Amino acid sequence: MDMQAPSAALLSLSCIAVRDETPTVKTFRLRADGGPVGFTPGQALVVKVPLPGGPAWRSFTISGGTGGDLELTIKAQAPGGATRWLHENLREGSGIEARPPRGAFTLGLRDNDRLAFVSGGSGATPMMAMLRQLADTDPEADLAWFHAARDPAEVLFARELAELQARMPNLAVAISVSRPGPGWFGYRGRVSRGRLASAIPDLGRRQVFCCGPQGFMQEVRLIHAAEGGARAQFHTESFGGVAPAAAPIAEAAPEGPGFGLTVNGRAIGIRADETLLQASLRQGVVIPCGCGEGMCGTCMVQLVSGRVDSRPNGGLTPEEAAEGYVLACSTRAASDVEIRLA
Ligand code: FES
Repeated sequence: MDMQAPSAALLSLSCIAVRDETPTVKTFRLRADGGPVGFTPGQALVVKVPLPGGPAWRSFTISGGTGGDLELTIKAQAPGGATRWLHENLREGSGIEARPPRGAFTLGLRDNDRLAFVSGGSGATPMMAMLRQLADTDPEADLAWFHAARDPAEVLFARELAELQARMPNLAVAISVSRPGPGWFGYRGRVSRGRLASAIPDLGRRQVFCCGPQGFMQEVRLIHAAEGGARAQFHTESFGGVAPAAAPIAEAAPEGPGFGLTVNGRAIGIRADETLLQASLRQGVVIPCGCGEGMCGTCMVQLVSGRVDSRPNGGLTPEEAAEGYVLACSTRAASDVEIRLA
């Protein structure tokens, strides 16, 4: 099957089916008007959600898809937000726009025979996409998956997981719920070192792929390190989200006088030690953002003029980079710079 040629242009997607996964989670199957779309399991789509107050960009991991279709598995969050809008408005026959698939949270990072997936809530979606890939390409893979959910009814993909376990002899799955009901025989409670080490005794020797809320991932990162895991063997993917908290580029640039920064025609300044995103937010200019680490693509802006130090972390496609887009959360100015919100 010929896939669409990679492009920086927005994908126009039609919803062709909606499936209930749990009481609060739906899977939307999307088909691009321009033809089949390729993706690597673990990658995400940045969706333009047309909220009444103006569009919101949200990053959702692609949970699956065959034949060039894409599936997004989305949990409905607070009323008025993007996920709730999608649950209430995206139906069979309706359309939506998104940026092309992106992200480096994939099995391309794999360099260890022993793998561990650790997920919380909707964080199961990239894991499921990668697990299906493993089932097809390496069914003997040594994989331990720990998933934390609120209650048994909210455990995603339970039936498919059971089927895959029958085909994958070295797949171990442990599920912990924080509100177990009668008849629940799995783990109980939130993620903790004791619970995780009990479910995956050799966690420190495994390469970990972790996805869930920020606090959850931070806790699992500390547990992996405490169990002797190397920093380079721990990979995270965040989802949804709107506000990064901290400096995303690992190496801090030297402090200096800074440069001029113009955003959509508004002139502000930028210090040498901050990103385009930090400078904008500090001065009241809102740029939509998600992961804050150059991975999700939500903060993509067009570079109109100037030189920059741009360090995307899988969140920018080569086509977008070639067309002059940068990620505001992982880009610093190297001269006076003008950008336009994409
Ligand atoms: S906020 Fe995710 S790439 Fe910038």
